Amino acid sequence: MQEMLDGSRVSAIVTDPAQTDNPIIFTNRTFENMTGYTQEEALGRNCRFLQGEETDHSSVMKIRKAIAERVPITLVVKNYKKNGTLFWNRLSIRPVMIEGARYFIGTQTDVSVQYRQIEELQCKDTEIERLMLPIMMIDDKLAAVSLVGQMNEERFSLLIEKLSGFVHVNEVDHMMLDITGLDWQEGTPIDRLLEIQQILELMGSCLYITGVSPKLARNLAMNKNPSQVIKTFSSIQQAIYYIRVKNGK
Ligand SMILES: Cc1cc2nc3c(=O)[nH]c(=O)nc-3n(C[C@H](O)[C@H](O)[C@H](O)COP(=O)(O)O)c2cc1C
Repeated sequence: MQEMLDGSRVSAIVTDPAQTDNPIIFTNRTFENMTGYTQEEALGRNCRFLQGEETDHSSVMKIRKAIAERVPITLVVKNYKKNGTLFWNRLSIRPVMIEGARYFIGTQTDVSVQYRQIEELQCKDTEIERLMLPIMMIDDKLAAVSLVGQMNEERFSLLIEKLSGFVHVNEVDHMMLDITGLDWQEGTPIDRLLEIQQILELMGSCLYITGVSPKLARNLAMNKNPSQVIKTFSSIQQAIYYIRVKNGK
C-alpha cells in the first residue's frame, strides 16, 4: 500500500482514527513536494496544520462531519504550504479497511491555477459593479445606466464588455449612458465614447450620453465627421423626451 502511494503522482496521506486526534501515519513523496513538509514533520499531526487564516470554516465543518460519519468527501479548500504560500487544495478523503482496521486516505491536488482564474473573474465583476449602477430598462427598447467613480483603461474595457452583452441579450435600441458621477482620470476621452457608440451601432443600438457639461457638449459637437457625432443631453429626462419625440411615442 505504502509503495503504491509513494509511486503516485497525486499527493496522499493516511491517517489512523484509532489514535487520538486522527493523526497522519503516512505521507507520500508528492505530498512532500507539494506542501514542503517532510514525512517526519507531518507524522503524528492532524492534517489541519495545513489550514490557516483564509481557510473556509464551513468547508472544515463539512470535512469534520464526513469523517465522523465515515463517508467519503471531495471538496476544494484553501491550505498553506510550509513556506506560507496559500494554495487551493482539491481534497478527497475516504475511509478504507486495511487488515481489519479502519484508516482514512486523503489525496490532495493543487488546483490554484484554475481557482485563481475564478477569483480574478469575480474581482472583475466587483470592479464593474463599483463603476456601474445597475442597467435599467426604461421601456422595452430603452435602457439607461449611470457610471460612478473613476474611469481608467481597464474599467473602460469592462464597461464595453458589460454594455454590449446587455444590449445583445435585451435587444436594446437606445442606450443612455449617464456620466454625471463619473471621474475620468485624464479629462473625458471623447474617443472612448465614440468607441462605445460604434460598437453599439454595429449591434443596431443608438448611444446617448447624458449628464454632459456644456463644455464637453461643445467638444463633442466639434467633431467634423458626421458619423462620429455623439448625441448628448444634460439630463436623462431630456434624452428620454428626445428619443420618444423622435420615435413618435
Ligand atoms: C486522510 C485525511 C486527510 C486530510 N487532508 C487534509 C488536507 O489536506 N487539508 C485540510 O485542510 N484538511 C485535511 N484533513 C482534514 C483535517 O484533518 C480535519 O479533519 C478537519 O480540519 C476537520 O476537523 P477539525 O474541525 O477537528 O479541525 C484531512 C483529514 C483526513 C482524515
